[in-house]
Amino acid sequence: MKPLIIAIDGPSGAGKGTVARAVAGALGYRHVDTGAMYRAVAWKAVRDGLGLDDEAAVADLATAAVLGVEGGSVSIDGHDVTREIRTSDIDRAAAAVARLPRVREILVARQRAYGQSGGVVMEGRDIGSIVFPDADLKIYLDASPEERARRRAADPAHSGGREGQAAVAQSIAARDQADRTRTSSPLMVPDGAVVIDTTGMPVAAVVERVMALVSARLGATTR
Ligand code: DC
Repeated sequence: MKPLIIAIDGPSGAGKGTVARAVAGALGYRHVDTGAMYRAVAWKAVRDGLGLDDEAAVADLATAAVLGVEGGSVSIDGHDVTREIRTSDIDRAAAAVARLPRVREILVARQRAYGQSGGVVMEGRDIGSIVFPDADLKIYLDASPEERARRRAADPAHSGGREGQAAVAQSIAARDQADRTRTSSPLMVPDGAVVIDTTGMPVAAVVERVMALVSARLGATTR
């Protein structure tokens, strides 16, 4: 049975990370958090004092970077940045570097390499549209802006937790706007994606729904 490529897209706070991790764990697949790749590149660009709109410099950094984004921790060039990339400064910096077409090209190539032999659950904004338009299963997770702000504010991995929900709601809205309106690979519902509105749904129910779609897909590939 050929291992699948499962693409999970959606805006911040829709639950992509939690769901992708659980689904990958249940299937024994790799979980790749592509947002963490943009965050790690942004972290290093800030640390190196690069202009976040300096496309050539940030693209060089992304080309040379040794990135680790598996197994729940994130590293770049030997620095463990798992915690440091979840701050509001890096939220903004990551959204800025994610607008740069050359940086996207470099990270997309790496993402395709991670997934080439299948057996991967990859989450991001453009996985089903650009990275793997032929993914075996495409999911688009969404939730109301209020619910997404509530989840993000309560997330202990994200230091936004100290900001309070109103500030988190505001920065999520600004980031959604940036992700949806940028010219290079904007956030969108990919062709053929199953949209799940997770507002008011417990995580276990979302995972169950995705696993049912996976089973249907696996059934279809063995037929
Ligand atoms: O999912 P996240 O919040 O960790 O993503 C960080 C930033 O990177 C966010 O602004 C969206 C952007 N991103 C992207 O443009 N494409 C992806 N595949 C993943 C994330």
